[in-house]
Amino acid sequence: MQKKEANKKGALQPSPKVLVSCRGLDGEDNALAVGYCGNCSYAPPMVMVGIVPTRYSYQMIKESGCFVVNIADKNYQETFDYLGRISKKDSDKLKDMKVKLEEGKVVNAPILSDCPVNIECTVVDSIMTGSHEMFIGKVEYVHASEKLIDEDGNIDFSQINFI
Ligand SMILES: Cc1cc2nc3c(=O)[nH]c(=O)nc-3n(C[C@H](O)[C@H](O)[C@H](O)COP(=O)(O)O)c2cc1C
Repeated sequence: MQKKEANKKGALQPSPKVLVSCRGLDGEDNALAVGYCGNCSYAPPMVMVGIVPTRYSYQMIKESGCFVVNIADKNYQETFDYLGRISKKDSDKLKDMKVKLEEGKVVNAPILSDCPVNIECTVVDSIMTGSHEMFIGKVEYVHASEKLIDEDGNIDFSQINFI
């Protein structure tokens, strides 16, 4: 195979695309699209999400110390695109899109009811990697649509039509 140097940015693909929901100290809820994310520890289970400091959500996560990673499927594409384009600085986007919310079971942040998987996390560390601050989240609780879970609690991700 003949190779040549390619651009470095976002070189690792495919990468998941998720919605991260959060709550500010004043109780306001928000969510944004995130592509810089991944699993980062198996034991204990941890995930990381990369947030640009200019995002409205950034301060909310920084102050509250928690967030929820919501895995959206293609049925949610329109909402996903809106939450990834509009900032809460400019509009109450959750209201605009009539996003259904539920309380987290463990953390003080909302989960997006119409996403098949929601991962509640507590921030245990963060590192400014460059453009993004990577928030390391200890996985506190995973909600998954009943039809996706087998008797051992494993999620059948092959049934999700990922964005
Ligand atoms: C596919 C996609 C991936 C994105 N990935 C990230 C990301 O990893 N980190 C980030 O801070 N913003 C990312 N964004 C941009 C934010 O979702 C967007 O700026 C959003 O409006 C921020 O909302 P907020 O200001 O209300 O927090 C992404 C947007 C899209 C559409």
